[in-house]
Amino acid sequence: MRYLWYRILCVQLSWVALDSSAWDGGAVEVTIPRHVDDETTGDRLRRWADEWIRMVRVAVSPSDQPKTGQIYDIIGPQNLFGEESLFINLGYWANDPVTLDEASRDLARLVARTAELNKSDIVVDCGPGYGDQDILWAKEFGPKHITGVNLASEQIEIATRRVKEAGLGKRIDYVQASATALPQEDASCTKVLALESAFHFPSRVDFFAEALRVLKPGGRLVTADIVPKRTPLNALARAEVSRRGWRQASARAVRQAVDLIGYRDLLLDVGFAHALTRCISDDVYPPLGRFLRTRLRDPDMRHVNPVLRYTFTPLGFQLTALNTDYIVAMAQKA
Ligand SMILES: C[S@@+](CC[C@H](N)C(=O)[O-])C[C@H]1O[C@@H](n2cnc3c(N)ncnc32)[C@H](O)[C@@H]1O
Repeated sequence: MRYLWYRILCVQLSWVALDSSAWDGGAVEVTIPRHVDDETTGDRLRRWADEWIRMVRVAVSPSDQPKTGQIYDIIGPQNLFGEESLFINLGYWANDPVTLDEASRDLARLVARTAELNKSDIVVDCGPGYGDQDILWAKEFGPKHITGVNLASEQIEIATRRVKEAGLGKRIDYVQASATALPQEDASCTKVLALESAFHFPSRVDFFAEALRVLKPGGRLVTADIVPKRTPLNALARAEVSRRGWRQASARAVRQAVDLIGYRDLLLDVGFAHALTRCISDDVYPPLGRFLRTRLRDPDMRHVNPVLRYTFTPLGFQLTALNTDYIVAMAQKA
């Protein structure tokens, strides 16, 4: 359970203050639902209490199923940190974006460029959040079709509404499923993308195997992902993996051994013909920490649940950067 909390708290969450906004990559107006405009202090305290209670209930409920979808739905759009998007990622800050929204878009673009996303692509997007990335990809890179696979039902509902508003309802749709059991047929798509979501999936071994299965020959998997750093502390996990193999090792050992190098090994072990991983931590953690130092003081951040607000302090990011690498990975099917 601590792992789930850690992962949830590692994600960047953005609260959005506008009913609708012009989207940077084109003149697309998409609704940004807000539930907190007219909230009194009392309402806000009651909402936070309700969110905490629901979180604890989900956390302690005796289920073997992944709980991340339910937890994201509890966090909802009301607890996000952005200003004019519903992205839920840490952003890519190499080009000095001014806002988290722009940094998040840059991260989506980095994933698309790494995938060489183009007009002939059939995309499976694993962990699409509220759909901002799909709208951006459709507008800027023009793939034929995108299917978002997500566990969070409220996210699916909101994303579906937003892509329709953007006039992209025929090119983007969503299904409720886990990325580790994709509903797509074998060899049915050309790109599988996972933008800051694979660290939530119950098993990267299963996810990579599923991505390989649904990709056509020559297709690509690209992820922006958060992995443990290689340190002496996880040497035992690596030893277990090399002794028993990725598929037979315990889930805990696999999770700790999937570092920058292990990630590539696992992609190749699962059956991809080529795989590359690149660490982009320096363009994610320190600049985001600096940005949040001021963003967290903005009056509109008052609406964000304090548990989330106080997790994303510069110190929090320094600690995260000590333990984890932020990576971009690309793997190609033969
Ligand atoms: C950190 S958010 C990123 C959302 C979006 N990619 C973005 O950048 O704004 C992680 C996403 O992964 C989804 N997710 C978590 N576990 C999943 C699973 N097993 N299968 C599919 N999606 C999952 C969550 O519901 C959420 O949409």
